[in-house]
Amino acid sequence: MVKLFEPLALRGVVLKNRIVVSPMCQYSAEDGFANDWHLVHLGSRAVGGASLIIQEATAVSPEGRISPEDLGIWKDEHVPMLQRINAFIAAQGSVPGVQLAHAGRKASTYRPWSGEGMVPESDGGWPVVGPSDTAFNDNYPVPTALDAAGIQKVIADFRAAAQRALTAGFKLIELHAAHGYLLHEFLSPLSNQRTDAYGGSFENRVRLLLEVVAATREVWPEDLPLIVRLSVTDWTEGGWNADESVQLSALLKTRGVDLIDCSTGGNVPKAPIPVGPGYQVQFAERIKEETGMLTGAVGLITTPAEAETIVASGQADLVLLAREFLREPYFPLFAAQDLGVEVAWPAQYERAKPRMVSAAGQR
Ligand SMILES: Cc1cc2nc3c(=O)[nH]c(=O)nc-3n(C[C@H](O)[C@H](O)[C@H](O)COP(=O)(O)O)c2cc1C
Repeated sequence: MVKLFEPLALRGVVLKNRIVVSPMCQYSAEDGFANDWHLVHLGSRAVGGASLIIQEATAVSPEGRISPEDLGIWKDEHVPMLQRINAFIAAQGSVPGVQLAHAGRKASTYRPWSGEGMVPESDGGWPVVGPSDTAFNDNYPVPTALDAAGIQKVIADFRAAAQRALTAGFKLIELHAAHGYLLHEFLSPLSNQRTDAYGGSFENRVRLLLEVVAATREVWPEDLPLIVRLSVTDWTEGGWNADESVQLSALLKTRGVDLIDCSTGGNVPKAPIPVGPGYQVQFAERIKEETGMLTGAVGLITTPAEAETIVASGQADLVLLAREFLREPYFPLFAAQDLGVEVAWPAQYERAKPRMVSAAGQR
């Protein structure tokens, strides 16, 4: 039995296989609005057979964008185009998901092909916020530490964004608490030097994420899944680490979170990360084993055989692919062929479907 193509139920949503499009910023929006690029980009991967497509980091407020060209969901006007995209994805049998995000101290930066580091206000940038007033590095803006009212606004922005996500037809929300963005910044003692109820102890550093989870769950229906992306470790002495991620995952399991998407890094410039095939899978395996939480593995998973091994051996319940999906939108269709599983191709493409080799070796 090939596990990669077994369905997975998350609350009332059934994923037809375990292959997920990992969220990927396209840096192609204007004022947060999705456009034809997003329709074709996300739509192609739905045609390609992914079970779940998690739309890129989508800002819950304008100041929470990584770059001026990020997608947003901070106003009702953003919703109609997202509805159109999601209807297309759903019509292909894929589940439309969204990653809700606030970039914190890593906001207001150039998209990769337009420059490096901070966008000055004279070039469309904006003042940024964080847990404390320390910048990510010399190229990044110095944030203003959020005060109590600012924290309440962040929570309210996530809640309102979740409500809009529902109207837009998303069926899964992923909260972005990884890669050195705001929620991760609160988790890590390297970026959080607060002395109030949101800094210091583990309980205090996880407080904002737990409050955002609670606010999201208030408006996100019981039968729809909520998942969280964590950077399981900062890969740096004195930083957020895997033990704390295990402890946090156990807590999240009791607060209505259904799966942890296990990434790493992003909060410390030049952290020594041992990058290689499947290098983060160990963290999905550990969290699953020690908490019983469902997990997703991500990071340099590029072949059907690797993906199948991860799921079949029980290291993770889902595999998320990013760059491989940019190279090959039809990865799931070809993975099925490689692994000898029969899956339907879109009717429009049926005449191009490679036929399984029969016992007689004939196609
Ligand atoms: C172009 C691009 C944009 C990305 N944008 C996001 C994002 O919006 N949110 C996120 O959590 N990760 C983002 N990532 C990270 C990917 O989701 C993924 O975790 C990482 O690329 C490792 O997976 P891979 O080896 O399959 O590419 C991005 C990666 C790429 C290549």
